[in-house]
Amino acid sequence: MSDMDTLKQQCMQCQNCGLAATRTNLVFGVGNPESPLVFVGEGPGEQEDLQGEPFVGRAGKLLDIMLEIMELDRSSVYICNIVKCRPPKNRDPYPEEREACSQWLTRQLEIISPKIIVCLGRIAATSLIDPDFRITRQHGQWFSRDGISYTAIYHPAALLRDVGKRPETFMDLKEIRRKLDAVASVD
Ligand code: URA
Repeated sequence: MSDMDTLKQQCMQCQNCGLAATRTNLVFGVGNPESPLVFVGEGPGEQEDLQGEPFVGRAGKLLDIMLEIMELDRSSVYICNIVKCRPPKNRDPYPEEREACSQWLTRQLEIISPKIIVCLGRIAATSLIDPDFRITRQHGQWFSRDGISYTAIYHPAALLRDVGKRPETFMDLKEIRRKLDAVASVD
């Protein structure tokens, strides 16, 4: 069994925070564990909780289109979330839930060893880049740490609510593709 499969088996048993009690399915992550590019969202929504896969609801359909804009698809990248279980009524995950879940994401990222991490929205950006990250002002900027390039873009759910944010996101996506071509090759 691969390291990622072993980690998934362990994670599926997780009872580290209160979200375990209300989950239908834990949503571990999908895609290519050898990809240089990882997308990190916030946490599962209703559809993800029901299906056990990240980004399969309306926001996920838009994420698929965003991947297409970068000439990528789900099998060439890795997609996961800050918290692996759905917060009730899709509220923001509490700091203690993010903290309790962080060991899983840390291990996932150790196994993948990506070149680029793209935070989808504010929760991922404040967890992974800077607690004071301002998505409106700082989306599309690059941050380098331990040999990994981090950036954040608007969450696809925000782009569903506000189509006015789409043109700047289109530019961010094109820039991520350029960065990817500069640092790695993708199959
Ligand atoms: N929103 C997220 O942040 N993650 C998902 O997996 C689905 C919706």
